[in-house]
Amino acid sequence: MTIDEKTGKTLAQLGLTDSTGIASLFAEVRAAAEAEAEAFGRGDVDEAEVVWQAKILRDRWLARGRGLIARIDQNWLRQTPKESRGVVGAEFNRLRQYATAQFEIDPLLAAHRQKTLARYEKRRGPDLTLPGNRRELGSIHPVTRVQRELEDIFIGLGFHIETGPEIESVYNNFDALNIHESHPSRDDWDTLYISSDVLLRTHTSPVQIRAMRKYGAPLYIITPGKCYRNENPDATHSAMFSQIEGLAVDADINFADLKGTLDFFAKKFFGEKTRTRFQPSFFPFTEPSGEMAASCPFCGGQGCRTCKDSGWIELMGCGMVHPDVLRNGGIDPERYSGWAFGLGIERFAMLKYDIGEIQNFFQSDVRFLRQF
Ligand code: PHE
Repeated sequence: MTIDEKTGKTLAQLGLTDSTGIASLFAEVRAAAEAEAEAFGRGDVDEAEVVWQAKILRDRWLARGRGLIARIDQNWLRQTPKESRGVVGAEFNRLRQYATAQFEIDPLLAAHRQKTLARYEKRRGPDLTLPGNRRELGSIHPVTRVQRELEDIFIGLGFHIETGPEIESVYNNFDALNIHESHPSRDDWDTLYISSDVLLRTHTSPVQIRAMRKYGAPLYIITPGKCYRNENPDATHSAMFSQIEGLAVDADINFADLKGTLDFFAKKFFGEKTRTRFQPSFFPFTEPSGEMAASCPFCGGQGCRTCKDSGWIELMGCGMVHPDVLRNGGIDPERYSGWAFGLGIERFAMLKYDIGEIQNFFQSDVRFLRQF
């Protein structure tokens, strides 16, 4: 007997009165429903045919009066004596829930679309028109940006970029630069030592020595890179920071070349109206030595918060390369002379973007970094 025939009879006519028999009858109907849902839309049928078949399948199960669910309601549930109606009612509800979820037209068509797509994908491979997984793009770190901007100005003047190691010998970092054993900067209050003769370089000046030995004269280089000092962090100090060293060595280089180059540089970076000022200073590796300042780019020299009302911003140390340093670099100070400078890149970045805290650069906070 098919389920169509069985649903035309009552349970009594089918000889089913015990709950096991009833349960297996509903299981039979459920299995038939699952098979019909599975078979729906199989084969190469066009869209109109699929919709037509969906309507037929819906009516077969869900139509009022003559649908299978309605017939089960009429002939099985309602004809069951009150005593055993609980079991049949529970089975019937479960079946009806399944049938409505499965055999309404929309779920039928959705399931069919799913199957068609799966079949199509198997045949054609993955859908290459779907959007890919996007990776978020990062941006250039503000210190790197400013470093590149500074580099570009000197590259435009014919300087080459030279780099050196951050782990450096005490000799290159201090001795070769005339920084005597007793100089306070050599104290381990200021310098991070790895051993008695190896340290984290405290400035980029040791690259002067390396480059002079490597290339000889004439020499025009800038040397960007990280430096380290035993420093307590505050708004303007960090144990790690970046410098750019500049070095020009040639026949007849004098202080006017230094001033002219750095004045040009300041005008390029801060604007044509910028004026520069050179004051005497002291570094063991330059003679004479100077501090170079530029007129404050924020107030034009009138005095403001940034320049602490002085009208000037200190930018870098500089000077004529000491003859002993040229000699330590293997260059004859009788034939050649040179100038050098050293500047802190973070300081330029802080001025350019009006940043008050050097620590911002090293905290990797995307809310800060996203602004660049
Ligand atoms: N090395 C010096 C510093 O770190 C800067 C400097 C470089 C001064 C070259 C003069 C010449 O402070």
